[in-house]
Amino acid sequence: MEDRAQWGTRAGFILAAVGSAIGLGNIWRFPAVAYENGGGAFFIPYLFALLTAGIPLLVLEFTLGHKYRGSAPLSFFRMSRKSEWIGWWAVFVSFVISTYYAVIIAWAMSYSVFSFNLGWGSDTEGFLYGDYLKLAEAPGQTGSLVTGVFVPLILVWVITLGVLFKGVKKGIEVANKIFIPALVVLFLIIVVRAVTLPGAMDGLNTFFKPNFDMIMEPSVWMAAYGQIFFSLSIAFAIMITYSSYLPKKSDITNNAFITGFSNSGFELLAGIGVFAALGFMANAQGLSVEEVVKGGVGLAFVVFPQIINEFPALNGLFGFLFFASLVLAGLSSLISITETYVAGFSEKFGISRNKAIAFGGGAAALISILFATQGGLFFLDAADYFINQFGVAFVGLVEVLAIAWFLRKLNSFQEHANIASDIRLGGWWKVCLGVITPIVLGYMMFGLFKQNLLKEFDTDTGNYEGYSDAFILYGGWFVAAFALIAGVALTFKSWHAKTDAESYKEVS
Ligand code: ALA
Repeated sequence: MEDRAQWGTRAGFILAAVGSAIGLGNIWRFPAVAYENGGGAFFIPYLFALLTAGIPLLVLEFTLGHKYRGSAPLSFFRMSRKSEWIGWWAVFVSFVISTYYAVIIAWAMSYSVFSFNLGWGSDTEGFLYGDYLKLAEAPGQTGSLVTGVFVPLILVWVITLGVLFKGVKKGIEVANKIFIPALVVLFLIIVVRAVTLPGAMDGLNTFFKPNFDMIMEPSVWMAAYGQIFFSLSIAFAIMITYSSYLPKKSDITNNAFITGFSNSGFELLAGIGVFAALGFMANAQGLSVEEVVKGGVGLAFVVFPQIINEFPALNGLFGFLFFASLVLAGLSSLISITETYVAGFSEKFGISRNKAIAFGGGAAALISILFATQGGLFFLDAADYFINQFGVAFVGLVEVLAIAWFLRKLNSFQEHANIASDIRLGGWWKVCLGVITPIVLGYMMFGLFKQNLLKEFDTDTGNYEGYSDAFILYGGWFVAAFALIAGVALTFKSWHAKTDAESYKEVS
């Protein structure tokens, strides 16, 4: 397909890649993950993961998409037919993620509205799980549809698919040119306000205080790699798809560094803002920061509303700014996640982009309704854990092993990336991808399988979060297995003739 869509400008591509990277992971995942895994000491494994795996893999994915000019599966197919399945596997991992990611954005949308009159009241925990989510009694029950989640969810999909319908340049690029600068401005306002609140320094001390004992724990390293992969949108098929829309003469390596550092910079900013605000709240309630911090959903949707309640002035406005930031960060990522299967389906079946959006996006939107039921949060939690560990991280490992060891493509990729890049890739890049990353990720995957299969979690059932065996099986393992099986299954279907998968001109 030589009429392939293209980004209008280099800045447009970078903003789209940064928009994909900066997402819910930066705001609701990072601060808590860093805190739980050693605070200041977490930055050592985090930086190691960023420099030896995150950025090198980003360069690899940018090169793959740019060189073979296709969606992730088509790029893998063109590199070697035997590797097409890896591209589809990543695409279906993204498909699964999009179904629940959209729901978290929907919650944030509702909460931006609740901000105006602090509609969550003083018992923010009771409000989230009771009044708002109407949470089912036990994992596995669906209960009925929760209107307060369903309505914003429709809006999330209308915006996301609407942007995609407009195309790469007029839709994705334009949306990111608006969303990302707006996000940075909103977020800076919150951070500046947060660090000037009384007690902010206590929060920052807690965040940065290093616990060096934890640095030797394998789980801390797993958390660092997991965070880098999710946050940089690596092994999601996204960066391959986005770079396939780059013009022929494009800088690859520098773009990867800019994307990686912007994402981590924003992540750090989010950590500073969140912990400064936590310090303020702890101070106001006469508690220690350790007593008020919570992870994941609890941090953004239970603790943050409490912080907003305590704000000295303009509570509603700051609440709105925070949740609107989550919505903007989330939408720009969801657009990129959805684009992976839109591009893949359209090329595989030779259908128009709009049809692929209607079928692919429509299917994801329908499935996402499951997470808008009363049991949605449990399904979401299990799916999120399993698809990240046995989807994203596993795809990442298989991807490097295939490219570095089985297909031995690192030399030709290095040459390709060096054609038009300011930063020349040297031997370090091949060592990171060929040696360090496979060893660390391989060790990590082994540990993860062992922990989950031998039920080594410190819970009643020994399973993740203490869920029952049955729930773990269909809410977790099946979900992760679906991505792999669906991916392999699609490789049995040949590419539509229109796509011209076999003969293409390599970009040089
Ligand atoms: N990279 C996206 C995030 O951090 C998926 O949320």
